[in-house]
Amino acid sequence: MIKGFVFDLDGVITDTARFHYQAWAKIAQDDLGITINPSVNEQLKGVSRMDSLNIILKFGHRENDFTQEQKEVFATKKNDYYVALISHMTPADILPGMKEFLDELRAENYGMSLASASKNAPRILAGLGLTTYFDKIVDPASLRHGKPDPEIFAKGAALLNIKPSEAVGLEDAFAGIQSINGAGEFSVGIGDPKILHEADLNFNCTAEVSLAKIKAAYADQND
Ligand code: BG6
Ligand code: MG
Repeated sequence: MIKGFVFDLDGVITDTARFHYQAWAKIAQDDLGITINPSVNEQLKGVSRMDSLNIILKFGHRENDFTQEQKEVFATKKNDYYVALISHMTPADILPGMKEFLDELRAENYGMSLASASKNAPRILAGLGLTTYFDKIVDPASLRHGKPDPEIFAKGAALLNIKPSEAVGLEDAFAGIQSINGAGEFSVGIGDPKILHEADLNFNCTAEVSLAKIKAAYADQND
């Protein structure tokens, strides 16, 4: 039986990928002399701040050009730009259908936790007016491994005091679906089914997410 839902944030509840991209594009151009493009951005989804910087440096063939201290400075600078960009977020930035979906889950008393790689997640939830929906938030600083490792989604269920088999995870990134599946939870992909083909159930976009369909697919798999 489903007892709780573990959510990714970026790309599932709100679209922050464009702000991450804008901030990284500026740092890459101004400080690293690297011009990034949308296909690099796709690789940054679900990936931690430092891992994102390493992907950009590799893309620009500059992976051996900076010390860890210099990289920390770039990552902090990127975050400062990013925080300025997300500071204007409001409930209008919730992706279509997600507020209604969260309301439905709340009305049915499901546990809800957040499994986002973003250290800015509490700030974003506050801007969206969604803080009170989440019983627990996994602290990404407490993790040994990022997505696709199962640790973050496993913790998201553990914080709700439910078994992985009682949890549904929602994700827009392939690495996130791998994390959910590795944790032994029911995986719901939101986005291109070709990219998210390992999900137990897929919706093309947030507006299509349906609790009834999730319950039916979960029941099919678990009877
Ligand atoms: C994820 C995003 O949710 O959080 C990644 O998809 C981002 O693009 C990661 O790098 C870390 O975010 P932050 O806010 O801690 O830099
Ligand atoms: Mg995401």
